Amino acid sequence: MRTQVGIIGAGPAGLLLSRLLAQRGIDSVVLENRSRSYVEARIRAGILEQHTVDTLTEAGVGHRLRREGMEHRGIHLQYPGTRHTLDFPELCGRTVWVYGQTEVTKDLIKAQLDGGPPLLFEVSDVTPEDVDGDSPRIRFTDAEGNPQVLDCDVVAGTDGFHGVSRPVVTAGTAGQLWERTYPYAWLGILADAAPSTDELIYAWHPEGFALYSMRSPSVSRLYLQVDPTDSIDNWSDDRIWENLSRRLDLDGWSVNTGPVTEKSILPMRSFVSAPMRRGRLFLAGDAAHIVPPTGAKGLNLAVADVTLLAAALDRLLNERRSDLVDAYSDSALRRVWRCTHFSWWMTSMLHTSGDDFDAQLQLSQLRRVCGSEAAARELAENYTGLPIEG
Ligand code: FAD
Ligand code: PHB
Repeated sequence: MRTQVGIIGAGPAGLLLSRLLAQRGIDSVVLENRSRSYVEARIRAGILEQHTVDTLTEAGVGHRLRREGMEHRGIHLQYPGTRHTLDFPELCGRTVWVYGQTEVTKDLIKAQLDGGPPLLFEVSDVTPEDVDGDSPRIRFTDAEGNPQVLDCDVVAGTDGFHGVSRPVVTAGTAGQLWERTYPYAWLGILADAAPSTDELIYAWHPEGFALYSMRSPSVSRLYLQVDPTDSIDNWSDDRIWENLSRRLDLDGWSVNTGPVTEKSILPMRSFVSAPMRRGRLFLAGDAAHIVPPTGAKGLNLAVADVTLLAAALDRLLNERRSDLVDAYSDSALRRVWRCTHFSWWMTSMLHTSGDDFDAQLQLSQLRRVCGSEAAARELAENYTGLPIEG
């Protein structure tokens, strides 16, 4: 088998990259080690920045998003006695959209299988080779158990945090890793309950952070700060609702409850691996970096990476010029660090540690964001997504 770009991983980064390349006349093959149903059912992010919506629309997969997604003009920031609304269009002229990552992935897979470049599920033993030369290849075993070789001009490692690509980059470059593990986790639920809020609520509470989000007019997505060593078996649905109500309710307003359809505990970490390239192997998305979800940045950062990478590969493969691929890692990492800082800052402002000095600093910061237009604008610009700079 031969293609121009061999793409490892069919998450949002790999699938979108394949589409953006096809629009530029570049062929690719996407290799995914899980099944289609597994990939489509993985519940993750829910907030799309304006540039993500624009990129998906330009890539021809924005129809259902525009129809079923919900445009949001702001968020509520809450701490005891206060629920303050940040109006994004007023503060920075942009909005965000609520549309689940599951739906983004379904739309991209459907477009791919409907006449797009090849997408192979349930492959195994995926190994990028000879990435330092001009003719790299990917060895893998197909779903029927046959060994295969995919010869390419370029390999894209979009295989997430636990993928095989990043170790190949770090083994062959004088790179650096930065990691921070936070002393809290999120317990997340999906519930068949109409959201009783118009906008997402980010709530600071002495017992810990809570977030009220949604997936549709009839499905709520809610999160509670919990101890990272806690087990989901300790959390009955009743206990979850009691804690959500305590942390989110205000006088005369309450969380709408309903049957819980999914629940799990997610660890929180920041992680950055540099460079995002070794020779002809380029990393994008969670393969190179992880942010804690408080800033809603993970999926958006993956989209920003592949937007830059598609333009760089277009220049390399269609014009034989290497300036953009040479700049790719540094350009992508500048945005990665901005989002890493914003995600760390939101996380630090909203999660309680049990230390009262920290709590007073957090409350002071929240009052500042809610009371100063300059401070509110800084949050709004970052949350809705800064422009992608190539
Ligand atoms: P992924 O979505 O991880 O896709 C990588 C793909 O590569 C997967 O399909 C995987 O199966 C495949 N793969 C892995 N190894 C191999 C291999 N060896 N060979 C072939 N294929 C391989 N972000 C938010 O903004 N908000 C959230 O609420 C949020 N919640 C999250 C919850 C969880 C549990 C996780 C893990 C992430 C969450 N994120 C969230 C982050 C966000 O989902 C990711 O940033 C986003 O999925 C990144 O997309 P990606 O394509 O880079 O990686
Ligand atoms: C979600 O809806 O899953 C979601 C929303 C906002 C976040 C994180 C997750 O900051």
